[in-house]
Amino acid sequence: MITLAIETSCDETGVAIVESMSAFEHRIIINLLSSQIAVHKKYGGVVPGLAAREHTKNLPLLIKKALKEYGSARFDAIAYTNNPGLEPALLVGRTFAKTFGYARNTPVYPINHLYGHIVACFASGNQRSKIKNQKSLFPAIALVISGGHTQLYVMFSFQKIELLGETVDDAVGEALDKGARVLGLSYPGGPEIEKLARMGHEGAFTFPSPMISSPNFQFSFSGLKTALLYKARDLQKNEKKLGNQTKADLAFAYQKAAFDVLETKTKRALQEYQARSLFIGGGVAANCSLRKRFEKFFKEEFPKGLLFIPAPPFATDNAVMIALAHAVHIITSKGGKERAR
Ligand code: KG4
Ligand code: ZN
Repeated sequence: MITLAIETSCDETGVAIVESMSAFEHRIIINLLSSQIAVHKKYGGVVPGLAAREHTKNLPLLIKKALKEYGSARFDAIAYTNNPGLEPALLVGRTFAKTFGYARNTPVYPINHLYGHIVACFASGNQRSKIKNQKSLFPAIALVISGGHTQLYVMFSFQKIELLGETVDDAVGEALDKGARVLGLSYPGGPEIEKLARMGHEGAFTFPSPMISSPNFQFSFSGLKTALLYKARDLQKNEKKLGNQTKADLAFAYQKAAFDVLETKTKRALQEYQARSLFIGGGVAANCSLRKRFEKFFKEEFPKGLLFIPAPPFATDNAVMIALAHAVHIITSKGGKERAR
């Protein structure tokens, strides 16, 4: 099955062509991404109208390039990000996909962006060798950590997915972006905080991990950002300008407080549902420190389980994950068969 996929939910225009041999074996034929970071940087975040304008400009160029490199007119499906995302940006991809599908007489499928993040782990390597069969994965827990979402799900299959909890205010990626702004770093803040935190000393500062002990799967990150803001202001009273080491120590403590709560709640969900696997996706899953700590605890505490984290370029927004979302859903819902044809 060959899928052409379009991603325009936020500030990345993505086009991919992926061949799916089974639910867990995929060959990426084309993977194009046009980033708008330079456009939004000066505003410190994504401006929806500007994002839509950039998608309108970039999407036809990427499609043209993709088709030229692919060198064939053969694909079985067009998949596009339908929701969630910035509505003006989504509208560009949706309209393009539907028009393109009509002109090519090819079926068009709306895709949930978050489902794409969950299955993005199948983009690299042959995950099939890790997986005995589809059933052996479930129940599974999925953690989506992006700029717009922080959610925990329990999955009983690739179709039966229930939301356990989510953030009541800011998403974790949003908190990292806002925290970065407090520290005078540029957008997007997650990778900047990560870089700075590598030079930070553990214990120099501590921030409380919001809702870490609450007996549910909800998250909250807006208070954490406020705590950083107040701490930075207090320090500035004495230091005038924050020194590089102080900033690095603050970045370390800030990132740690956010990741502690993600780890604690995910562990609790894994235990409560006696999960056999854990899927993590979304831009924050590109963070090296987060990946390491999840890999460590999972290996130690769930040695029989399977952990799926996408390679960093597939953790952040891309169109490959949209093609995978279509393929995984279609293939696994065909009476549980895992083969594409
Ligand atoms: O999934 P994504 O690309 O877009 C959304 O669906 O929101 O996630 C973007 C978020 C941003 O908040 C960005 O700062 C964060 O992911 N992010 C990171 C890293 N790379 C991107 N956060 C922490 N560490 C990173 N390396
Ligand atoms: Zn995303």
